[in-house]
Amino acid sequence: METGQTKIVEKILALKRARNAVILAHNYQLGEIQDIGDFVGDSLELSQQAAKTDADVIVFCGVHFMAETAAILSPQKTVLLPDAHAGCPMADMITADQLRAMKREHPGAAVVCYVNSSAEVKAESDICCTSANSVNVVESLKEEEVLFVPDQYLGMNTARQTAKKMIFWPGYCPTHARITPATIERMRGEFPSAKVVVHPECRPDVVALADGAFSTSGILRYASREDTRQMIVGTELGIIHRLRKEHPDKQFIPISEQAVCPHMKMITLEKVLWTLEEMSPQITVSEPIREQAISAIERMLALS
Ligand code: 13P
Ligand code: SF4
Repeated sequence: METGQTKIVEKILALKRARNAVILAHNYQLGEIQDIGDFVGDSLELSQQAAKTDADVIVFCGVHFMAETAAILSPQKTVLLPDAHAGCPMADMITADQLRAMKREHPGAAVVCYVNSSAEVKAESDICCTSANSVNVVESLKEEEVLFVPDQYLGMNTARQTAKKMIFWPGYCPTHARITPATIERMRGEFPSAKVVVHPECRPDVVALADGAFSTSGILRYASREDTRQMIVGTELGIIHRLRKEHPDKQFIPISEQAVCPHMKMITLEKVLWTLEEMSPQITVSEPIREQAISAIERMLALS
């Protein structure tokens, strides 16, 4: 690490103590952000941490819906997102009005929303899920018909593992959509003995060609397996930092240099320092929406 960066990190850590703050970082964050995280994990693990932390301040190094979920779960805490513009394009692909219209078309169906969604959409949903628990969540429902929003690909990849009738909203992750069957075939040709592991936000025809599809923490667990010596990593490239750190003896090959989420990369050390200095930008959720949205998240957490 350069001297400039070391100085910023020292200031962040001192301010973090002074403010009684915790830094939560997603597995897709820049390496230097992961390295200052008190906890680094997938969406489910981060929401579990946000629900149980006794810190006064949560600095969320991730994207907007993650900080919003923390604010829903812990309204008495100050939740900071170091760049308020770090959003999730997929979460923005459905509005609460659109979900209400979908519900009117399918009365009696249960609504499962991926946590990559706004608080307003969560408020209209019966239960949330993440890529780590989508099958369990869908299977836990008494209803036979399920509306799944906003990620059609996670929905389709889930539907293959359950008998429920699932109806999808046509959202998708622009980062994972860059991974195609041709990408997998090319990489398998180049590295014939490598395992290919992808994220379930990838298209089903991509998942079908992979050795496994898991949440980011599931990918980290797969890397720990004895028989994984060389792995082609089919998700956002930020995860490579942690994979290499935890398994310096193994080889991790990015599936595509294009698998980058520009929003995840908006969080920098400088912005983390500024956010702690200024205690801004704070992420809040209006009380009526929060009260409606929390049950979908808590119902999911109770299953996990
Ligand atoms: P997970 O870490 O839960 O697998 O989420 C992936 C993702 O795209 C978060 O935005
Ligand atoms: Fe959203 Fe995809 Fe970025 Fe995750 S990787 S925050 S799903 S755009």
